[in-house]
Amino acid sequence: LPPDLYGPARKNSRGVELGCRDMLASTLKDIAAGRREVTAASIVDGAVRTGTARTMASPIDGGVIGKVIEADAATADAAIATARKGFAAWDQTPATQRAAILEKAADLLEARMESFLALLQDEAGKTMDDGISEVREAVDFLRYYAGEARRLCGAGETLPGPTGESNVLRLRGRGVFVAISPWNFPLAIFLGQVSAALAAGNTVVAKPAEQTPLVAFEAVKLLHEAGIPGSVLQFVTGDGAIGARLVEAPKVAGVVFTGSTEVARIINRTLAGKDGPIVPLIAETGGINAMIVDATALPEQVSDDVVTSAFRSAGQRCSALRLLFVQEDVADKMIEMIVGAADALRLGDPRDASVHVGPVIDAEAKGKLDAYTKKLSASARVHYAGAAPATGTYVAPHVFELNRAEDLQEEVFGPVLHVVRFKAGGIDGVLDAIDGTGYGLTLGVHTRIDGLVEKVTERLSVGNVYVNRNIIGAVVGVQPFGGHGLSGTGPKAGGPHYLLRFASEQTVTINT
Ligand code: NAD
Ligand code: ALA
Repeated sequence: LPPDLYGPARKNSRGVELGCRDMLASTLKDIAAGRREVTAASIVDGAVRTGTARTMASPIDGGVIGKVIEADAATADAAIATARKGFAAWDQTPATQRAAILEKAADLLEARMESFLALLQDEAGKTMDDGISEVREAVDFLRYYAGEARRLCGAGETLPGPTGESNVLRLRGRGVFVAISPWNFPLAIFLGQVSAALAAGNTVVAKPAEQTPLVAFEAVKLLHEAGIPGSVLQFVTGDGAIGARLVEAPKVAGVVFTGSTEVARIINRTLAGKDGPIVPLIAETGGINAMIVDATALPEQVSDDVVTSAFRSAGQRCSALRLLFVQEDVADKMIEMIVGAADALRLGDPRDASVHVGPVIDAEAKGKLDAYTKKLSASARVHYAGAAPATGTYVAPHVFELNRAEDLQEEVFGPVLHVVRFKAGGIDGVLDAIDGTGYGLTLGVHTRIDGLVEKVTERLSVGNVYVNRNIIGAVVGVQPFGGHGLSGTGPKAGGPHYLLRFASEQTVTINT
């Protein structure tokens, strides 16, 4: 938060005395009210492209928040061609200079946090807490990958060799990276992908999700303002068809994708079928994330962590909890407490500072989730069905009990929790069931039993394991994030090995 918001309660522009959170909410409302309509469009070689605009509606109330001009095929092709031309100069730009530009972008983003936060609320329905942590994460990615460029992409590493020979290993950019991102972190994941690729010396063609182009457009303008040349970063709006065209383009050197497993497979197949160089794919995808709660767990802590993991961000995090395994002996008590905690959540307009859960992204997502909960209500035990506001794309949180974990076959991307009981001594069956999903993104364990954590982490190939806490909100540079199997290819975003996958390695041996 800006420092002047930390102080004691003060009066806002309408003379009302407010505390720190309410003050920020009031500021955001003023920003949104005073904002000129944003029209997002592709940016190629630093120039904003024109065309027919589509109106963007907010998930909060359907109000118009801006317009987007979708790219056509010619724009996508021009973006790739421009990025190709820009590569040599950017790759030869010293890593320290590339890093300094990214750090300047981080400073600008911090300084303009409130306007990004207001747009995240309107375009993606983010609550204040989610919005603040998303801007924070975006700033962290910019600074972290700048630091990684300094650490890894400098003059190179001199390796031991025979007398009379010098051997230097250095990292270079690969070429044009296509970066395709999802709507659920339209700023942080968008900027994380782009800044990593740029830091390593690549030029980038970035496509945001079709649901959230406005905040990404503002982020690209900010990067250009910070000093990323127009030839180095291209922005292409549009849906999956435009994304597919970018992936299919000749001479793309790499693709970084975050989104569904299904689309990652499509991209993987396209890349495998292409002529020319073999193109690496970095895919970060979904999960059927589980939490194991045994009889030694602390009930208050469990209920808090379960509700945070399953329902915050309206369950629209790839890391969110979908499948809760509770030991039979304590299950009734745990479920009762979870239901109580879920019922205490405030669902509604995320611009209200006291709201915990906002809308899902759009009417299509709401339709799918409502149909799912309706269908499951007929076959599973319903422990909780919350209430959702009538207008806007809100989905009521649900807690279901399944007889078998195998009944959940796909990622349900919303505020829906599935509970399964297991018998004391039945932990191996639980681990088999988690392993059997084929996903491996996040996992929670609530236990005080020595050895259980080791057993779980040895048995399961899961990217992020959280013990006696919630399972969302990985922090850049602290909890490197990403999964295995159906959840992605690795490497881990916000971790010390991430940049390596965006770079090509070159060994220069000189006989002196
Ligand atoms: P999505 O796969 O539908 O779309 C993601 C992006 O891919 C969008 O930009 C979309 O336009 C584009 N796209 C769609 N079809 C394409 C094609 N054929 N070729 C190229 N691009 C194409 O995913 P979504 O609905 O935007 O996001 C939700 C999903 O993302 C969930 O499965 C969630 O778990 C996952 N996710 C994963 C992570 C992670 O780090 N592992 C983070 C956030 C979200
Ligand atoms: N990195 C995000 C989280 O951990 C998706 O929740």
